[in-house]
Amino acid sequence: MKTQYYTASSIDGFIATEDDSLEWLFPLGDLNESSYPNFIAEVGALAMGASTYEWMVRNADKVAAETGSCWPYKQPVWVFATRQLPLIESSDVRFVKGDVRAVYKEMCVAAGAKNIWIVGGGDLAGQFYDAGLLDELIIQIGSVTLGRGKQVFPRRVMSPTLRLFSVRQMGVGMVELRYEVGR
Ligand SMILES: NC(=O)c1ccc[n+]([C@@H]2O[C@H](COP(=O)([O-])OP(=O)(O)OC[C@H]3O[C@@H](n4cnc5c(N)ncnc54)[C@H](OP(=O)(O)O)[C@@H]3O)[C@@H](O)[C@H]2O)c1
Repeated sequence: MKTQYYTASSIDGFIATEDDSLEWLFPLGDLNESSYPNFIAEVGALAMGASTYEWMVRNADKVAAETGSCWPYKQPVWVFATRQLPLIESSDVRFVKGDVRAVYKEMCVAAGAKNIWIVGGGDLAGQFYDAGLLDELIIQIGSVTLGRGKQVFPRRVMSPTLRLFSVRQMGVGMVELRYEVGR
């Protein structure tokens, strides 16, 4: 079982624009032709931050067009938030706050032998990293720059902590980098 931060970033290190738009991402490739179907098949529990969850609430139509459902996850999802958020119908969501370590224990029980996916944002993935709980970064770098926005991983991680173990080109629009996080 691994804890993986799987995300897409611009070349200059942003996962969304400053106003939380992901419009830059959709033209870059088809989700179903990426590593996503194999990746999600091995996921047993997910964690995401409040803004990421809010994006899904706001863009339910887009999510449904891309995945076939406005809430595409069959696995339980832990949403970190202090703000009040609406519950998406038929979703298995738990709203939590505070130290990621306590939540991680619950997620491990739910995930069993499967992996834990830290969906984002970058700081939430950073909190799992800070606690020594992150095993892999899987970053799909899109062939775009955004100039400003939400950072992919707002931490300073110096060599040799990250060990690159896989590079995969996906057409002209994306490259996927997989890193193991050394402890
Ligand atoms: N490119 C991609 O593949 C990709 C992947 C994931 C996300 N995204 C996008 O990237 C953006 C990410 O936004 P973001 O950087 O603002 O990150 P985020 O993690 O989605 O949201 C940040 C918020 O999560 C809450 N939070 C985080 N840690 C917490 C903790 N330990 N306890 C309680 N609450 C906690 C806080 O909300 P409160 O204010 O409620 O306290 C915080 O302001 C979104 O637009 C999302 O759609 C893109």
